[in-house]
Amino acid sequence: MSKTRMITLILVLAMLCALAFSGCSKQEESTEPADTETEAEAETETKEETVIDYMVLVNQQSPLPDGWEEALDLTTITNSVGDEVQTESKAYEAYLALKEAVEKDLEGYEKGEVRLELDSAYRSVAAQQKIVDDFTEKYGEDYVKKYVAVPGYSEHHTGLALDLYFTIDGKDVYENEDLVQYPDIWDAVHARLPEFGFILRFPKDGEAVTGYAYEPWHIRYLDDPEIAKEITDKGLTLEEYLSE
Ligand code: DAL
Ligand code: ZN
Repeated sequence: MSKTRMITLILVLAMLCALAFSGCSKQEESTEPADTETEAEAETETKEETVIDYMVLVNQQSPLPDGWEEALDLTTITNSVGDEVQTESKAYEAYLALKEAVEKDLEGYEKGEVRLELDSAYRSVAAQQKIVDDFTEKYGEDYVKKYVAVPGYSEHHTGLALDLYFTIDGKDVYENEDLVQYPDIWDAVHARLPEFGFILRFPKDGEAVTGYAYEPWHIRYLDDPEIAKEITDKGLTLEEYLSE
């Protein structure tokens, strides 16, 4: 073989080798997106599987279940007094529908134009502790026992309990002692709760079962208007309904 032929042969072999290699690396590259896709699918599946139980019972005997906060989807708004309020997202949508219906029902209310507002919904354990401390200072220990849950045992940790207040002609009616002066407004609110999947969680005369005094402002989202209607029509507490 001549020297020129030998060089040509080596060059051809080198080119063939290079081509073979680039083919290999292309195959490796092509497996990467497939892996990424699989991971993305797996992530979606995990999120879809993590759903909250809208019928969960959190009360003086039952703390917030483990892993709840990881599964919770929250919507954040700012209310009329400038506070940031977070609510479980489906409960927030239902609240908006409730608000629209109640405000319409109260059109022509003798004391002025009523607008429903959200005082507090989701609370961390630390936020609940702050309420215990503030209310103890403001109202005393006896009041706190009747109206405020021990941190870790508040339904507010679920994001499904909503404390309402309202404005009348743009003026905030916000403090508990002022809110109870408007039973006619609360009647209008309570009448509309079940159709949007809510119940009044601490009804009058429910203290022996719930452990808390009447709170016209504290409503609970159940994500099921039929169940909410049954509980309301039968005059049950959530505890009684769940133990039936
Ligand atoms: N006001 C209710 C009982 C709470 O603090 O969760
Ligand atoms: Zn509340």
